[in-house]
Amino acid sequence: MCGIVGYTGTHSVAEILTEGLARLEYRGYDSSGVALEHANGSGLDVVRRVGKVSELVDELQNKRLLGAAAGTGEGAAAAGDAKAATCSTCGIGHTRWATHGRPTEENAHPHTSCDGRIAIVHNGIIENFAELREELEGRGHVFKSDTDTEVIAHLVEEAYLGRCANDAAATDAEAPARAAGTHDLVAALRLACERVTGAYGIAAVCEDEPGVIAVARKDSPIVVGTCERGSYVASDAIAIMDATRDVVVLEDGQFARLTPEGIEFTDASGAVIQPEMTHIDWDMDAAEKSGYPDFMLKEIYEQPRVVRDTLTGRLAGGALAIDELGLTLEELNLIDRVYVIACGTSYHAGLIAKNLVEAWARIPCEVEAASEFRYRDPIITPSTLVVAVSQSGETADTLAAIRDARIKGAKVFGITNVVGSPVARESDGVIYTKANKEIAVASTKSFIGQVVSLTLLAMLLAQVKGRLRQAQVRLLFRELGDTAEQIQRIFDTQEPAIHEAALACEHASSALFVGRGMGAAISYEGALKLKEISYLHAEAYAAGEMKHGPIALITPGFPVIAVATKSPTYDKLVSNLKECEARGATIIAIATEGDEDIRAIADHVIYVPPVRDAMSPITATVPLQLLAREVALLRGCDVDRPRNLAKSVTVE
Ligand code: F6R
Repeated sequence: MCGIVGYTGTHSVAEILTEGLARLEYRGYDSSGVALEHANGSGLDVVRRVGKVSELVDELQNKRLLGAAAGTGEGAAAAGDAKAATCSTCGIGHTRWATHGRPTEENAHPHTSCDGRIAIVHNGIIENFAELREELEGRGHVFKSDTDTEVIAHLVEEAYLGRCANDAAATDAEAPARAAGTHDLVAALRLACERVTGAYGIAAVCEDEPGVIAVARKDSPIVVGTCERGSYVASDAIAIMDATRDVVVLEDGQFARLTPEGIEFTDASGAVIQPEMTHIDWDMDAAEKSGYPDFMLKEIYEQPRVVRDTLTGRLAGGALAIDELGLTLEELNLIDRVYVIACGTSYHAGLIAKNLVEAWARIPCEVEAASEFRYRDPIITPSTLVVAVSQSGETADTLAAIRDARIKGAKVFGITNVVGSPVARESDGVIYTKANKEIAVASTKSFIGQVVSLTLLAMLLAQVKGRLRQAQVRLLFRELGDTAEQIQRIFDTQEPAIHEAALACEHASSALFVGRGMGAAISYEGALKLKEISYLHAEAYAAGEMKHGPIALITPGFPVIAVATKSPTYDKLVSNLKECEARGATIIAIATEGDEDIRAIADHVIYVPPVRDAMSPITATVPLQLLAREVALLRGCDVDRPRNLAKSVTVE
């Protein structure tokens, strides 16, 4: 949820770190900080600021630790171009999403040891930090923050020195073995990691070992890479891919020692290992706005491409081809229950899948928040298929639910956007959604990729079960592909209608989203998108539920946003809307092109092309994304970085 970047080499590190942090800011942005080795290797400068990375850049400039080029250069790894004669060339940086402790300067990373000679940055969560802190304080360590992370700095210090730097009395006579200390940063980090329970990606520097960065990983992504300029570490390749596209994605329990000359890898026992390289093949465009005012709009506009790319190669010789399934067709045929487990937007993709799997394959399908699933005792047998949906592929609750499901004997199938992510690695099979890097915190294009992938999976299950003939599968596949153009048509024609509808919501204090069947599932996603980026309270209801309570909320002008596309329950929905209209609601309808009747009850109509009900989640969600963005902009919100949220939720 937070971001790490580090560099040691021949170039000025401050530029490299701040550029890298700016790229990682989508992951967390409460505060940020850097630890820079002094140019002469005699100490560390630790600078931290609350707020966005731009605040940190200003502070570094004020302190003359950063040149004028910072924050405006071409990219993290290419930044710092002027060879560094007098500036720091080794350091670590962090952008934080607060878990333990408020977003203050004291709680921002890097955190330092008692004497300030060791600095660390950390992603993840240290579950036993309270016990460790008490123990360390008992031995004289003085804590400066409320974070769980700080215990690591003190543990590393103790392992490095053999004692607490504050405690000159802890002499060799008291504890000769420990008092010796490792005087080796990686070895000290390894000892510290042995003491902690939880998840971590860590980078550490120590003023006694100039030019060295020690790195550790468990359940929190870390990539490292090297080129002629030096060695890099980051929690996401996006921060370093300007420098190198050949990276090592550390596995749990692996450590790395970065120096300007290269990287040495070791395992938990300290033995030297040679991990495999991964080549990053996605385009840097994904990390740039490419002329759009914000990432969210850019990513919404990429959705026709996402549909096409996710479908590419999926129909071979007239039959569906999902080779990465990890299950044979015979095994698939035995599946008699499906669980979709996911969080947030991905959970809403699951609600859509439930409709499709049950309608087409006639297999019972339950959708469950991964955070609940992991603590229940769901009925799982070897013929249960668990489908884990996660854009980031690293959501802590989804991962824990996958592990639990596998222990209980289920086959687990992952749907994720991130190649090699923990969800991909821990599932029996995987479909990649081909959305490419998603930077805006609110998921848009990855949702569409998930819905397309889940639609394919439902078709496959139905085909294997003999519920859909090949000709039907081919027809559905073609219609699924047609949604790419249909989305484009929405972009081309509906902008004015969406803007008008947004004006009707701008000053509201709450909004209701309603629909029936697929429309209800789409409504949940519409409401989440609106509330998370515009801070306008919104709830979604199956429209038939309105009269059982929510209708009490309706007063004149109250916005009711209805997914009113042509479907088997269209007439029922219209009746529900009439009840809202009678109470003065302002009705915004997402309706099918050609439906003029809806204008009789709707104040605003946004049209989507006619599609079969099964494909409506793809077309009807798009205007809801645009509506949410428009309302957020009218209300002066940062659509890419809504408050309190982070792009990937790696803590429980
Ligand atoms: C909302 C949003 C979140 C995520 C949720 C799960 O726009 O993005 O609700 O969908 O945090 O994340 P992933 O899909 O990465 O598991």
